[in-house]
Amino acid sequence: MDKHIIVIGFMGTGKSTVGEILAEKLACSWLDTDTEVERISEKKISHLFDEGGEAHFRLWEKKVLKQVLEQAPGVITTGGGIVLDPENVSWIRSHGWVVALDASEEELVRRLATDQSRPLLRGGAQQWVRDLKRERQGVYDFADLFLDTTESSPEEIVVKIIQRWKEIAGGSGI
Ligand code: S3P
Repeated sequence: MDKHIIVIGFMGTGKSTVGEILAEKLACSWLDTDTEVERISEKKISHLFDEGGEAHFRLWEKKVLKQVLEQAPGVITTGGGIVLDPENVSWIRSHGWVVALDASEEELVRRLATDQSRPLLRGGAQQWVRDLKRERQGVYDFADLFLDTTESSPEEIVVKIIQRWKEIAGGSGI
């Protein structure tokens, strides 16, 4: 493995769950940008939003992305909004093989309805998911592999990722 496998996608699509299992199966490291932001800043993401708004969090996110991309190749999972910054997209593309996860709006609302930890969902998951998903249409399109998690378990998704990754690795030495 000489490139990261980087998992992107909207909140609630299962990135972290899938990333953790994937890293276990591939016996490699797993880093999550949200977890790293909280570890390095020593603050919860909701606290960073309260402190300086979304822009403040995005600065931390960008700094942490750069750091995790410099680590030895492994699985990297990312926050749903990391791709809003074009420079982040270009770093992600150049440092990894990119998997985008998605799910239907209905399923995302179901998964996120009781979530208290994501600042962007404050005020009601249903409306936010609908609006944000529309606003972000196309932002994950640069990925190398697209998988819909609406009706698949994380384990099934991991099998598909590994299958495709092995096919590609055979040809390009990833
Ligand atoms: C965000 C998604 C969150 C987290 C932050 C902002 C977004 O991560 O980074 O709350 O803008 O979509 P998850 O995608 O892991 O929920």
